[in-house]
Amino acid sequence: MISEQKRIIRLEQSDCLTFLQSLPTDSVDLIVTDPAYSGMNERLKLGNGRIVGQYSQKGTQNGKWFQEFQDSEANYRLFLEQCRRVLNPDTGHIYIMFDSYSLLSLGPLMRDYFAVKNLITWDKINIGMGHYFRRRHEYIIFATNGNNRKLRHQGFPDVWRFKRLHRAQYATQKPVELFQAMIFASAEPGFMVCDPFMGSGSSAIAAIKNGCHYLGCDVAGTAVSLAQTRIAAYKKTGQDPLQPKSVSLPGEKVFWE
Ligand SMILES: C[S@@+](CC[C@H](N)C(=O)[O-])C[C@H]1O[C@@H](n2cnc3c(N)ncnc32)[C@H](O)[C@@H]1O
Repeated sequence: MISEQKRIIRLEQSDCLTFLQSLPTDSVDLIVTDPAYSGMNERLKLGNGRIVGQYSQKGTQNGKWFQEFQDSEANYRLFLEQCRRVLNPDTGHIYIMFDSYSLLSLGPLMRDYFAVKNLITWDKINIGMGHYFRRRHEYIIFATNGNNRKLRHQGFPDVWRFKRLHRAQYATQKPVELFQAMIFASAEPGFMVCDPFMGSGSSAIAAIKNGCHYLGCDVAGTAVSLAQTRIAAYKKTGQDPLQPKSVSLPGEKVFWE
């Protein structure tokens, strides 16, 4: 385990491409990320609900919707290219989350940059919004940077059941357990974990719980300050203020409960 004094945690307010471009080649062991895709929301015109506010106010100071990554194929290729460059070829594993639109439009591009190993389903247990069947799951593509580095355990399933968060403080805040599962499966203590769409920093809490270093960015200043406060509180008290009941230890329990 790395000591708290030696742990590197770098958070920045930045666009994901600018941030990734600032990192040295081969300097990251693991990318875990949950991008803000524009496609699905633009098509479904979601966002008039109680929690998410008016979609038309996205990215504005008082809007509840955050700014989204423009997920054209050209832009997404630039993103994947940078992910591949920063990922260490010997150790690099990558987990990228997709909704059902982006999975079909952008997911296939992953094969041009990485060795795709599996498509994981996150079963959120409770249903959410959606036309033509209400949404209860999201996807995670798992790939390596061309290496054959194994997971910690060959018995982990590819369907993960973690309850979605209800009334979370940050829009689209994900359960820490989701990132814990990715990091526990793929990281050794001391690995450098990176999340270029970190939001409220759920992946940062998971990285700390797994004894890893962490690099994160978000284009929104509010997200970065929330993540900073959250990490500081967690380090001080051992309690995550945004998800006080998350599983405290990494481990196989995270997968099976
Ligand atoms: C789905 S949320 C991530 C939520 C996060 N996993 C959590 O648990 O809190 C996506 C994040 O991407 C950020 N974002 C949107 N466009 C971005 C860009 N071009 N570069 C970096 N971050 C961006 C949004 O501000 C938002 O916080």
